[in-house]
Amino acid sequence: MTILHVSAECYPVAKVGGLADVVGALPKYQNSNGNRAQVIMPFYDNKFTQNNTFHSVYDGELNLGDTSYNFQIMVLQEKPLDFDVFFVNVPDLLFKDYVYSFDDTERFLAFQIASLDWLLTWDAYPDIIHCHDHHTGLVPFMLQESYKYEAFRDIPNLLTIHNAQYQGWFSHDKVGLIPPFNFDHVGLLDWGGQINPLAAAIKCAWRVTTVSPSYMEELKHAANGLESLLSAESEKCVGILNGIDTNVWNPNTDNYIIKNYTQKSVTQGANANKKHLCETFNLDYKKPLFAFIGRLVGEKGSDLFPEVFKNALETNSCSMLLLGSGNPEVEAQLEALKSEFKGIYNAFIGYDEKLSHIIYAGADFLLMPSRVEPCGLNQMYALRYGTIPIVRSIGGLKDTVIDISEENGFGICHENTTVTEINEAINRGITLFKDQPTYKGIRKKIMDIDHSWDASAVEYINLYNTLKLTRND
Ligand code: ADP
Ligand code: GLC
Repeated sequence: MTILHVSAECYPVAKVGGLADVVGALPKYQNSNGNRAQVIMPFYDNKFTQNNTFHSVYDGELNLGDTSYNFQIMVLQEKPLDFDVFFVNVPDLLFKDYVYSFDDTERFLAFQIASLDWLLTWDAYPDIIHCHDHHTGLVPFMLQESYKYEAFRDIPNLLTIHNAQYQGWFSHDKVGLIPPFNFDHVGLLDWGGQINPLAAAIKCAWRVTTVSPSYMEELKHAANGLESLLSAESEKCVGILNGIDTNVWNPNTDNYIIKNYTQKSVTQGANANKKHLCETFNLDYKKPLFAFIGRLVGEKGSDLFPEVFKNALETNSCSMLLLGSGNPEVEAQLEALKSEFKGIYNAFIGYDEKLSHIIYAGADFLLMPSRVEPCGLNQMYALRYGTIPIVRSIGGLKDTVIDISEENGFGICHENTTVTEINEAINRGITLFKDQPTYKGIRKKIMDIDHSWDASAVEYINLYNTLKLTRND
């Protein structure tokens, strides 16, 4: 089967968060099952594009309303990736150094139009077009409604919602930027008086998936305004749990970490990484090390960190290390804590892929007190590296972490994202760490849990197959 993934991010080309990891891994696993999965994404001016050479395979011109833009479809000169990636370069719009910016509407619309314009020139269309998040949400609408893309009406397409919080809203004033369609159907674009690409995709895609089954259920009650739409469309919606790329995330072969290790050697291996972290960040090696990696946004509960960390550090019974960036106020508060808790607390405000791997390997516990977590990959990386996750039971966290008090449990779970509950969970971690035999046993056990994409990649293929059957009916 041939599958075209349309996405704003793809690891290792451009990554802001988990979307990149998913689109960088799922096609690989799909291809290993005999399919041909490819990715089309925007061309950004970033480290990856600067360090690689590209050539153009197609030159075109697209229209956003009355304005036309030249675009090229680029491919890598060499082939360092495990699957084909096509890059849409619209020099006047897309060639910026950051993935998301203020003019997203025009940039992502141009990306989507260029992708479809180019697809019109293919000899054989893909069997499936798989769109990811709101940046590609107008694709299902255009496939169904645009006069220009009538040839695509029968191509089954689906949307995966990685995060319903972001919907790509823009004003109806800009409707003219979308290629002509039967204006009687303009309502398909609308949700709450604005053009809403995510809502349009939910209405028009043949199927809608979310990145965990629990998140699918939660969206019916909390979807940033889309609850009733998702409830109404629930028949075509299904939750498929994300996996992780166990080749990229493998403590035995990971080039980023200080010492590689297996399940057998986890104690020595993880401790060597912890030692490195403690030396680099001036932290007390003997204390249990709690870490957080991620975007400092409300969804992750990060506004509570300053108070939570203070409470935990005042007891002088643990160390804390944070890697992340986001809300400037939270960043400043987290920076300020450094002088108060020298030797047991540190934070790296920024993005650092290598450091994230060392933290997954070297921390004793990984904190994820998310208010919303559609899936969450960090907890699965932590498990793979023998680091015990402390999570709020929501979304994908609920689907992947079982509390130690339950049968076969291995993590620490709390019900709500409150300072009190997070601190209680940290205290349970401190207690667990004191019981070294149990703690070490859990470490070994969690490294065995299989969260690779193997199972979910097949689930997607099975879902695609049902769509192909629908088409042939
Ligand atoms: P989300 O996509 O909501 O940010 P996920 O848990 O799905 O959350 O994925 C986050 C991904 O981004 C993981 O690969 C994580 O390691 C990575 N990540 C997040 N923040 C940083 C950072 N500051 N430095 C390095 N990696 C980060
Ligand atoms: C989103 C979600 C995160 C999920 C990721 C990959 O960014 O916030 O929970 O793991 O997408 O699907």
